[in-house]
Amino acid sequence: MIAVRGLTKIFGTGKDALTALSDVSFTVEKGEIFGIIGMSGAGKSTFLRCLAMLETPTRGEILLRGVDISRLKGAQKRAIHRDMGVIFQGFNLLSQDTVAQNVAFPLRLVKHNEADVQKRVSELLGLVGLLDKAAAYPSQLSGGQKQRVAIARALATNPTVLLCDEPTSALDSLTTQNILQLLRDINQKLGVTILIITHELSVVRAICHRTAVLDGARLVEMDTTDALFAAPKSDIAKQLLGVRAL
Ligand SMILES: Nc1ncnc2c1ncn2[C@@H]1O[C@H](COP(=O)(O)OP(=O)(O)OP(=O)(O)O)[C@@H](O)[C@H]1O
Ligand SMILES: [Mg+2]
Repeated sequence: MIAVRGLTKIFGTGKDALTALSDVSFTVEKGEIFGIIGMSGAGKSTFLRCLAMLETPTRGEILLRGVDISRLKGAQKRAIHRDMGVIFQGFNLLSQDTVAQNVAFPLRLVKHNEADVQKRVSELLGLVGLLDKAAAYPSQLSGGQKQRVAIARALATNPTVLLCDEPTSALDSLTTQNILQLLRDINQKLGVTILIITHELSVVRAICHRTAVLDGARLVEMDTTDALFAAPKSDIAKQLLGVRAL
């Protein structure tokens, strides 16, 4: 579904140059839940922004179903955007709009028939269990509810891929479990391929089939989540898991 090859992102130039991603390569299979874990500043959000076509890589390519999307423009870029739902770090909801209007936002860019928009918004709010909050404003919602709105909005255009940047970092552990269950349902029932970026071990352990470890702009380790937890190889994975070096 996704193949990343030699992805490098350097911000700035000369002595101010900062390498946020260095030669990152891996593939994500169709229907997989793939996790990327790393400490603050490792390059996780930069990576997601490159995948979501919000940053142009300095080098390398990002293939979505075999098509390089890293340097698309205009109509081609918009078409791929509709096929890719993004949940940003923080919730990024429009505070002046109601829950229903927030979810309808990506639909209004593509669907013109108001009845179709309303029908789809109801389906999505039903999916995330928020039908009763359709007329509420983001400020009237809890963190978990805001995250559900962000998930509904990301799924509005029926994407085949869902990219999530720290989808649970602002939530308590019980709400985190609820959101992870929702993402698991979306993966199983709708067949959406999910890429989750997180600094929380509990998140990858709970739902990711495979996990990659990002450290200092580099991908240092990648394995099935079970294997990674059983025998972490990189220093950073050992540190994250609290395994003491011998
Ligand atoms: N637009 C930018 N211009 C310059 N440097 C940037 C820019 N965006 C990110 N960086 C730098 O790139 C590095 C990686 O940042 P990034 O936001 O990807 O980290 P992260 O892994 O998501 O961290 P966190 O867990 O704190 O969200 C950091 O050193 C950051 O300062
Ligand atoms: Mg980040």
